[in-house]
Amino acid sequence: MTIGDVMEMPKTLDTVPALEKAEALTITDRRTGRVYEVPIANDTIRAIDLRQIKVKPDDFGLMSYDPAFMNTASCKSRITFIDGDKGILRYRGYPIDQLAENCTYLEVAYLLLYGELPNSKQYQEWKRNITFHTMIHESLKKFMDGFNYDAHPMGMLIATVAAMSTLYPDAHNIHDPSSRTKQTHRLIAKMPTLAAFAYRHSMGMPYVYPDNSLSYAENFLNMLFKMPSESYKPNPVISKALDVLFILHADHEQNCGTNAMRSVGSSHADPYSSVAGAAAALYGPLHGGANEEVLKMLAEIGSKEKVPAFIKEVKEGKGEKRLMGFGHRVYKNYDPRAKIIKRMADEVFDVTGKNPLLDIALELERIALQDDYFVKRKLYPNVDFYSGLIYQAIGMPTAAFTVLFAIPRTSGWIAQWGEMLQDPEQKIARPRQVYIGLDERQFVPIDKR
Ligand code: CMC
Repeated sequence: MTIGDVMEMPKTLDTVPALEKAEALTITDRRTGRVYEVPIANDTIRAIDLRQIKVKPDDFGLMSYDPAFMNTASCKSRITFIDGDKGILRYRGYPIDQLAENCTYLEVAYLLLYGELPNSKQYQEWKRNITFHTMIHESLKKFMDGFNYDAHPMGMLIATVAAMSTLYPDAHNIHDPSSRTKQTHRLIAKMPTLAAFAYRHSMGMPYVYPDNSLSYAENFLNMLFKMPSESYKPNPVISKALDVLFILHADHEQNCGTNAMRSVGSSHADPYSSVAGAAAALYGPLHGGANEEVLKMLAEIGSKEKVPAFIKEVKEGKGEKRLMGFGHRVYKNYDPRAKIIKRMADEVFDVTGKNPLLDIALELERIALQDDYFVKRKLYPNVDFYSGLIYQAIGMPTAAFTVLFAIPRTSGWIAQWGEMLQDPEQKIARPRQVYIGLDERQFVPIDKR
């Protein structure tokens, strides 16, 4: 008998109170023959409704087992919508390409946080609030100086943003909306400063303080690349491209980093500690660290001619070796963000000169999209496939790529954190486990083991 076959069981459904709505799942427990009705809302059942399913009255009740949350919704959210099969991404209902085309990153950050795009008065006030919080405490600068010259910028960013919680004890008032607003301004404003300082430290260069006359992206470029001895004017094409990249990376619903943000935040930790947790999750090569890995992979391949051999290795590696920047848990179609970045790359390369690795990337994509292995598994380029080529062309070292992801994702993290804190259904995140270890046994003293 396979799933879906109808099995003759004693019918006890009439002993279960009938649900008013027709939207319900009928479950037959073959162990007992009992039948249960579980309500369905939004195409979802509540896992807690399974707990009533027991063999004996003192059983714990049925659980669902879902490693890596492959099919478990952990929250209801109004922020970001993705249809992975169709390749759709929307923030608060707006298609990502419309936002990338028409907005600045700061407008999009406002949209994610407050649910609506700002009008001009709101936007001016918002920009002013962010601009006036870009400076960091001098002690954070000293803290950064303590890192080794070759410290990874992401390690520095994670540690420094966590250290910010020691400077702003008011951040612990997470239930106070005005405190949340203040920490939001501080985080969105200071992340570029921390990221730029981490980069300058790793290059052995003096820190450049924020310049309030510049836009968010221009100020970041200025802090990265200005030499004390020379004047520097960010190129408008580059700062626009960076701003669009920030928009594309701002939120992506319940990914690994955002789930970490919600999970750490659910214990009512302050937002700096929660952002540090989220950034640590982002650091991994399967998540935001993939943009760094893509560049390493392209450099390792070395030339267009070697692409088929590399693809063969990936296929034969059976998951051991991956085509970095390809595949996604949710997208089973072209990542809409990758499409926009690919188009934008030409504009950037017109200014910077073409990144020689672009040809290898294009060839990889061309071959992979025709190859049965990738087609069958619906593996398409994701956001990280082309972003690193742009970062490299504008002069960022590979190790700093993931901090460029963390800066804009901060607005998404905070939006999701705020939503979680105000959701009456949310509690401290605490999954169950299926214990498969030893049953009780007796202690043996060390000389008898
Ligand atoms: N190269 C080769 N094979 C792959 C790849 C890849 N990049 N991604 C998935 N597969 C294969 C995998 O081996 C598996 O094959 P099989 O069914 O034969 O075992 C199948 O495709 C399904 O993969 P999965 O690992 O079960 O899928 P997942 O949803 O757990 O993983 C992923 C998603 C993004 C972690 C994965 O696709 C991956 O490792 N990609 C490379 C890293 C990367 O580019 N990450 C950035 C993601 S986008 C930015 C972000 O949100 O962080």
